[in-house]
Amino acid sequence: MPQIPGNAVGARFTGWGRALPPKVLTNHDLEGMFETSDQWIRERTGIERRHVGGTTAGLSIESGGLALGMAGVDPLDIDALVLSTSTPDRTVPATSATVQHGLGLKCGAFDVNAACSGFVYATVVAHGLIAMGARKVLLIGTDTLSRITDWDDRNTAILFADGSGAAVLEATDGPGQLLGWDIDSDGSAEELLFCEVGGTIHMDGKEVFRRAVRIMVDSAKKSMAIAGVTADDIALVVPHQANIRIISAACDRLGVPMERAAVCIHETGNTSSASIPLALFEAADQGRLSAGDLVLLVGFGAGMTAASVIIRWGV
Ligand code: ACO
Repeated sequence: MPQIPGNAVGARFTGWGRALPPKVLTNHDLEGMFETSDQWIRERTGIERRHVGGTTAGLSIESGGLALGMAGVDPLDIDALVLSTSTPDRTVPATSATVQHGLGLKCGAFDVNAACSGFVYATVVAHGLIAMGARKVLLIGTDTLSRITDWDDRNTAILFADGSGAAVLEATDGPGQLLGWDIDSDGSAEELLFCEVGGTIHMDGKEVFRRAVRIMVDSAKKSMAIAGVTADDIALVVPHQANIRIISAACDRLGVPMERAAVCIHETGNTSSASIPLALFEAADQGRLSAGDLVLLVGFGAGMTAASVIIRWGV
């Protein structure tokens, strides 16, 4: 397990932003599109409505601009842009190039694709850049899954949606916030959830569900072991917002009560790379986090990937 060197340069989030497209699709709207019901979707997934529309670059520029504004950072002072997405606007160039220009940044920019674990992967990568000398990194998680969803397939169309969350990560003189991290991938499970270039998402929902709980819990336990903390020490768990039953089962197995989980799935659906930053920064905006709180971010996704980090909030 990778240990964080004691002398690694520290970093912390100094500003953040969230963006959701204005168009809302409720469960009742879906009732008119295929055979389903609001009650079934609520009970089986926890989703009540979702936001759809926009582009990955457009939503990223919105959330990224809010994060820069909150941090009070000049776009010219950003050393790198890391954009987590599995729904780029173009195959080439990376959507981060469009976002870099749109935000007036003058720095290296690249996309990370680890499906719904992407924002956690990108968080690890951004801390790595800080450890290698970058001082300010803009970190964004955005997906526009509505563009690759088959709107006639009730197995997937009830779940997926669009959104974006962003943060400025700045180097600090102190020890910083990242206490433990884990990134996992099992490519042998690729066929459980995939989308061909130009196609729509295919998913074996039952098998994804079964594995999701296990791999989230395994990853979270690895990060907690590296950080030297237990579930009792975690003030807030921010799980990937895929299904409320997955969140509940994972929290149960981790020994963290649901009151300590950040949940926004009822409003957002599954926004892949955006889901963890949307839930995290909503919790922060609601005043649910205090300086020094330990936060567990944990995701899973196509690949199948899983990833987690333990961060000490606001230090
Ligand atoms: N509305 C009404 N009925 C439905 C619907 C629907 N939208 N979908 C399925 N059903 C029916 C089925 O046909 C089935 O009927 P039957 O018993 O007569 O055969 C019944 O409801 C139960 O279906 P299941 O597939 O067993 O339903 P389940 O409880 O497993 O829920 C779901 C399905 C929501 C897809 C669930 O399996 C799930 O959330 N899986 C995980 C998916 C996920 O997280 N994917 C994202 C991964 S992250 C990423 O990288 C994008």
